[in-house]
Amino acid sequence: MFPGIIEHVAFSEEEISRRVQELGAEISADFRGRRGPLAVISMLKGSFIFLADLIRATDVDISVDFMSITSYRESSPDSSGVRIVKDLSEGIRDRDVLVVEDIIDTGLTLSYILRNLRERSPRDLRVCTLLDRSESRIAPLHIDYRGFEVGEEFLVGYGLDYLQKWRNLRFICTLSESSMG
Ligand code: IMP
Ligand code: MG
Repeated sequence: MFPGIIEHVAFSEEEISRRVQELGAEISADFRGRRGPLAVISMLKGSFIFLADLIRATDVDISVDFMSITSYRESSPDSSGVRIVKDLSEGIRDRDVLVVEDIIDTGLTLSYILRNLRERSPRDLRVCTLLDRSESRIAPLHIDYRGFEVGEEFLVGYGLDYLQKWRNLRFICTLSESSMG
């Protein structure tokens, strides 16, 4: 599949699947017996494939909502550089909320989102990310559920993109120099 494009596979389909099952079990155990369905919020677009697998690995009542933001950090390195382009369709006041991310890098995006969501008075607000590049963190964050710790390499696949491509790969990998050019 895609010869010459993939540099190396960081996480295989099987590894991802196993870890997602574990995360789903952990989340289910933590939220079982809570009042009302867990509001699972997916940060578009990168987390939609992880979300689809993660929620099917849970066995508690959930609802799903989506939020989309743009980051224009390049042009404004000192500001939060984040703007909501698609907001939630339902309120989260007094609800248990789980924000699902594909990868947390600097943490600037998510810290903005969390600040914004906290103002809506959820009962509980937790974070689940498939990948955590904690060495690049600028904004300190508490992560409740983490799939894998990753290094500096830019990763694609399983929802993660490079210029909107490669989200459809079943595994997570690095791209060869030529395909990033
Ligand atoms: P942060 O605000 O720096 O934490 O930005 C995190 C966001 O940047 C993620 O949700 C991704 O959309 C994107 N991102 C960061 N690293 C990667 C990567 O290695 N591959 C694909 N997208 C990435
Ligand atoms: Mg993202």
